[in-house]
Amino acid sequence: MIVESALELIPKELQKHNSVLASAKRFGKKPSEILLDVSWHFAAMKGIKNEIKRGRPDLIHFCLLEACSIPIYFENKLEVFVHTVDDKVIFLDKSVRLPKSYHRFAGLIEKLYSEGKIEEDGINLLEIKKMDFESLIKKINPAQVIGLSSKGISSSYQQLAAEANSDTCIVVGGFAKGQFSDKTAKHFDKTISVDKNPLEAHIIISRILYELEKRIIT
Ligand SMILES: C[S@@+](CC[C@H](N)C(=O)[O-])C[C@H]1O[C@@H](n2cnc3c(N)ncnc32)[C@H](O)[C@@H]1O
Repeated sequence: MIVESALELIPKELQKHNSVLASAKRFGKKPSEILLDVSWHFAAMKGIKNEIKRGRPDLIHFCLLEACSIPIYFENKLEVFVHTVDDKVIFLDKSVRLPKSYHRFAGLIEKLYSEGKIEEDGINLLEIKKMDFESLIKKINPAQVIGLSSKGISSSYQQLAAEANSDTCIVVGGFAKGQFSDKTAKHFDKTISVDKNPLEAHIIISRILYELEKRIIT
């Protein structure tokens, strides 16, 4: 699960800012229809609440490509959820194939926000719902929730993969800086660190899933 992800549409209070209006014009969309992205909206984002955890939709693209393009995912042995910093949850169907191009990914997510789902042949490939982390945990009801943080108890990718089973929810932060909020962390049964250095979320995801894959898929 990718949690507190830096993925959201431009919030109302920033929609009239010059940098937002300029990027909306460039994309030919309304300010309310585009993703908040610090690379375009740095000036508008200065000083906003929770600033360091917002405006990095590219991170989520990387994380999802790592998680949803691998054998363990194709073989239905992995479920992936994206919880966002503004308490929405994206549900992904097993058959979803995400665009490799970031530009197309952003367009797809913007369409998902505006329509609530991306459907093909009667299947919801992607669906987005208003839901906080606590409600998502209640809904999937795992036997244990393991949070991953550079500030957690020291462990390893192998150890984590050895103790995880089909009823374990592994939580990675979908943000570039900072730590999980208390509201999120209070649901962790434990918090572990798998490397002595803080690493990018997609690196952590790819390495853990590779260890899991070696154990699960023979
Ligand atoms: C770029 S980091 C966020 C920065 C945060 N300072 C940190 O190091 O945890 C994104 C996510 O990757 C995971 N992560 C990064 N380094 C980690 C580590 N050494 N051990 C476990 N998880 C890590 C965490 O889930 C974190 O929320």
